[in-house]
Amino acid sequence: MKLVAIVGTNADFSYNRILLQYMKWHFRMAADIEILEVKQLPPFNEDLPDSEQTEVWRFNTKINNADGVIIATPEYDHSIPAALKSGLEWLSFNRDTMKEKPVMIVGVSYGTQGTSRAQQQLRQMLLSPDLNSDVLPGNEVLIGNAAKVFDKNGFVTDINIVHNLETSFTAFNKFVKSNMRYLERGDDNMTEPHISSDAKIQFRTGSLSIKEIQQIFNTLPFEIDFIDANDEFSYFSDKPNREHVRHTAEIGEPVQQCHPPKVWPIVKSIFDSFKLGTQDHVERCLPLNGHKVWINYFAVRDENGKYLGTMEFTGNVGHLVTLVKEGKFDGFPEGADATTGASKHDDAEPEQPAGPAMNAQADATTGASEHSDEDEDKTE
Ligand SMILES: Cc1cc2nc3c(=O)[nH]c(=O)nc-3n(C[C@H](O)[C@H](O)[C@H](O)COP(=O)(O)O)c2cc1C
Repeated sequence: MKLVAIVGTNADFSYNRILLQYMKWHFRMAADIEILEVKQLPPFNEDLPDSEQTEVWRFNTKINNADGVIIATPEYDHSIPAALKSGLEWLSFNRDTMKEKPVMIVGVSYGTQGTSRAQQQLRQMLLSPDLNSDVLPGNEVLIGNAAKVFDKNGFVTDINIVHNLETSFTAFNKFVKSNMRYLERGDDNMTEPHISSDAKIQFRTGSLSIKEIQQIFNTLPFEIDFIDANDEFSYFSDKPNREHVRHTAEIGEPVQQCHPPKVWPIVKSIFDSFKLGTQDHVERCLPLNGHKVWINYFAVRDENGKYLGTMEFTGNVGHLVTLVKEGKFDGFPEGADATTGASKHDDAEPEQPAGPAMNAQADATTGASEHSDEDEDKTE
C-alpha cells in the first residue's frame, strides 16, 4: 500500500513532522509512506502562472498515485495552520486530487487538547464539494503535551499513544483497501483484461487474442501511451523499466494533469495540430534518466482520417546510436550473419540494459522508422 503523508505546517521544527516520520518507520511493513511538506508549495493564488506551479503539480501527481493520504495538522488559534489551508486550496482548485481519496487525520499540539479543534475543522473541509475526500471516520489521533511524547530520536515514549496509533492505522489500512477506487485499480487490472483473454480479434491482416495483444504491447522495446480523442490518458503499455513511469491511477485523467506545467503548452500544441490535421507525427530527442530517449507522438486516425487519439511512442535509442556510429548499417561483409553481427554489440552502450528485448530493439526500431533506411533493412 502506498501512502502520502502531509506535514501540515511550514515550520522548520515540527512535532507533527516527527510524528509522521515515526509512523513511516513504525508502519513500514504495512505501507510505503512518503512524506510531503506543505512548505514546498507556494501560497495559494489562483492567478499564479502555470510555470510557477511545478511543486503543486508534483504534489498532485504524488497524491494521485497514492492509495491514501495521512494529514498531520498542528493547531493554530483553534484552527489548522494557514500553510495547510493554502495547500488544500491548491489541491481542490481545478483539480480532483483529493476526491474520493481515503484520508487519515492525526495531530500533535503543545497543549492538552491534541489539535481536537483543528482536526474537527479539517474533517469538515475535506468533506467540501471540491475536496470531497473519504475521511476515515472515528479513530481520532489527538496527541497533546508534544514536548513529552517523543524521545530525542523521535520515538513515541507513551505506550497508550502507540496503541492509539496502531488501532487507528489498522482501521485506515482496511478503509483504504475497501475503498472502491483502490479495488477498481487493483494490480490485477495490469495483467488481466476484463474480457476473456482467449477471445480472438479479427483484423484485416490476421487475428490475435486479447492476451497476445496485451503481451505484444508489453514486450515491444518501446513504451506506448495512448491519449484518446477527448484528451484523456487511457492506456499505457506495462513495459518493464519505462522511461516515463505511469500509474494506473492516472488512467482516465485529463492528459494535462500527466504533464508538468512547463511542458504542457508544447504537448497541447501537438494535440491541437493532430486534431486540426495539420500534422501526424512529431518527434523529440532528449536526455532522460541518463538515456538517449526518442519520443514520438503519432496521430491515430480511423480509415476515414477521423482523429481517434494520440500514441506516444518512447524509448531509449542509445544502443541504436552506437550501432550507427559503429557503421553497422553501412552494409555487412558478404556471407556475414546480420543478426549475429548486431547482437555482438549488446554491451557497447553501457547505459543500455542487455537482453533479448534490446536485441529485438535494433530490428524493430529500424523497421518502425519512417525514414528510408526501412528499405535497406529489408535487403539485409
Ligand atoms: C500561531 C500559533 C497558534 C497556536 N495556537 C494553538 C492552539 O490554538 N491550540 C494549541 O493546542 N496549541 C497552539 N499553538 C501551539 C502549538 O500546539 C505548538 O506550537 C505545536 O508545536 C505546533 O505543532 P508543530 O510542532 O508540528 O509545528 C499555537 C502555536 C502557534 C505558532
